[in-house]
Amino acid sequence: MKSIVLTGIKPTGTPHIGNYVGAIKQAIEMSENSEYDNFYFIADYHSLNALKTSEELKTYTKELACTWLACGLNPEKVVFYRQSRIPETTELCWILMNVTPKGLMDRAHAYKASVQANLEKGADADDGVNMGLYNYPILMAADILLFNTKFVPVGQDQKQHVEMARDIAKYFNKKYGYTFVVPQEKIQEESATLLGLDGRKMSKSYGNQIPLFCDEGTLKKLISSIKTDSSLPTEPKSTNCVLFDYIKVFGSPEKINEMEKRFAEGISWADAKKELFEMANEYIKPMREKYNYYMEHFDEVESLLKLGEEKARVIAKETLERARKAVGVID
Ligand code: TRP
Repeated sequence: MKSIVLTGIKPTGTPHIGNYVGAIKQAIEMSENSEYDNFYFIADYHSLNALKTSEELKTYTKELACTWLACGLNPEKVVFYRQSRIPETTELCWILMNVTPKGLMDRAHAYKASVQANLEKGADADDGVNMGLYNYPILMAADILLFNTKFVPVGQDQKQHVEMARDIAKYFNKKYGYTFVVPQEKIQEESATLLGLDGRKMSKSYGNQIPLFCDEGTLKKLISSIKTDSSLPTEPKSTNCVLFDYIKVFGSPEKINEMEKRFAEGISWADAKKELFEMANEYIKPMREKYNYYMEHFDEVESLLKLGEEKARVIAKETLERARKAVGVID
């Protein structure tokens, strides 16, 4: 049997270039490797604690589904689904809660960051913290364990969550006998490097993102707003900058080489940005066309998701039954 690779993305915003480079691109490349069976999903329940309205959830879920497909996910090769359509996930989550020490959740980075921020502003430690945030890692463990996952490709920021899923699997197996495959993270290094327009981490709250499928005009405008140093037009430029990081994403090896030379010789920032726009636009254009198509024909996407959901539930039911037997609620 092939090893299972599984990863999810939560629909909390319009997909941007950082999401593409950090997660989607590599996940799709991995799915082309026939060594594995791949499960890729939209973690809609995970985004509930971050979103304000149901409309946002609907919009971002639709955009994310169309993005996966536009970027080349092949639904015949990958089991592609929405987390919320697999009710076995939340049932398993409850079972897993009972082998998860509270102390483990207290140590989760996201929870600790909220507590820290509260304390710094003199608020109650748990101000604004709901149980969805607190239990987030257990739901993620359920996502992973439900499908007998061996490898979980994620960015560095999710490493701790996968480690927790591994701990939870081990606690369960120890208490009830071997039930779950013990998963392992596969850290995607590149994801750490693609920064936002202003050189800070790409984040909705900084407004420094480039939406992956914005129109050409917007793409051009955003690229021209990338922050650069104050070296004069003819001075040599350092390739150690955000602009060059983007060139490395979108340029062919030859183009990257050429740009390295031109940076050393002293290309103006304006010309460098023009070059980057051409590269990025050429790269993104075919995907953008597919994206716009799927956005307008969402019924097609919907049927692909349903197909994936049917496939996913066959395995989900098997695993859940194993867990239910292990704990003793069924014989
Ligand atoms: N927490 C992940 C993120 O924020 C999304 C996610 C949910 C996930 N469940 C998962 C990733 C299971 C990998 C495996 O990006």
